[in-house]
Amino acid sequence: MSEKDIYILGIESSCDDTSAAVLKNDKVLSNIIANQDIHKKYGGVVPELASRAHLSNIIPTVESAIKEAKISLNQLSAISFTKGPGLMGSLIVGTEFSKALSLSLKIPVIEVNHMQAHILVHFINNGKNMPSFPFLGVTISGGHTQFILVKDYFEMKILGETLDDAIGEAFDKCGKKLGLGYPAGPLIDKISVKGDENKFKFSLPKVNGGDISYSGTKTAFINFLHKNQTKNIEFINQNINDICASIQKNLIDNLMNKVHLLSTDNNLNTIVFGGGVSANSYLKKRLEKYSNDNDLKIFIPELQFSTDNAAMIGIVGYLKYKDSLKSNLKSSPSPRLSF
Ligand code: KG4
Ligand code: ZN
Repeated sequence: MSEKDIYILGIESSCDDTSAAVLKNDKVLSNIIANQDIHKKYGGVVPELASRAHLSNIIPTVESAIKEAKISLNQLSAISFTKGPGLMGSLIVGTEFSKALSLSLKIPVIEVNHMQAHILVHFINNGKNMPSFPFLGVTISGGHTQFILVKDYFEMKILGETLDDAIGEAFDKCGKKLGLGYPAGPLIDKISVKGDENKFKFSLPKVNGGDISYSGTKTAFINFLHKNQTKNIEFINQNINDICASIQKNLIDNLMNKVHLLSTDNNLNTIVFGGGVSANSYLKKRLEKYSNDNDLKIFIPELQFSTDNAAMIGIVGYLKYKDSLKSNLKSSPSPRLSF
């Protein structure tokens, strides 16, 4: 170990994934994610079950991360953990675990904002280009849809956000109505490949400025299904590919309109995505065309870094460690943490 090397253990437990990662400076040595399958049969995350699953998963997940990184616990320089936003019970497990381990290892803890981490994940060094400031950050997940002006690592301003449902939530709720499992986002993505995106039309919500809305689309979608099912009970089965492709197009059109508005209004030619929905293959296709047509730089994280993961918590830990932005054992979870 060179004297200058910094080893960070990142811990993520904000929702239903228990994750631990080890970083050597800005490089990821391991990134272990334990998904909680228990929520599938309920069609959504059950907070009480999530915190119990974090409790049983956290020690084995950290052990695997340390083992895969081929380091020992006493090589760690600091532990970074998700302070919020997220589910209180889930956040408590990661926060208290991190504080206890830091106390026993006599190393600092560093608190991390989960939404900032979804953006700063692009500063992991994996040999690819990194975004240059300023840029438009777009976080799209099951819990958030935010447009952020990012001037520096820790200088961020929210330009707009969802007034109701998050885009991932809209994917999941529409998918549930189609009888798809949870989370439905990846399933809609896969099924849509075989469908015609222009077969069924849904209107776009009218929201001024940088804010966005998804709850009207969900209601319109439910009404559309009811109307067609009364005429033909087999409507969903017979049209599943086209229904998925059409609703996916509408959800992504809504997002693209706001991305276009905010990047042009703020003169930003770099757009950086984060959060589970950035794994969507149709969105990636649309963005590729959009960036070519408008000469923009678009950054989309690789799959393991787009959904919830601890490597993103680790990179923020590393950036804060270098800036001496450490916390202490009084640190507590903050379910509604903002910037
Ligand atoms: O960032 P994330 O793992 O957790 C939250 O912080 O919410 O995002 C999960 C969300 C879910 O709503 C899931 O359906 C959605 O991301 N998602 C997708 C895809 N992969 C994950 N949505 C559309 N297409 C995908 N390929
Ligand atoms: Zn997330």
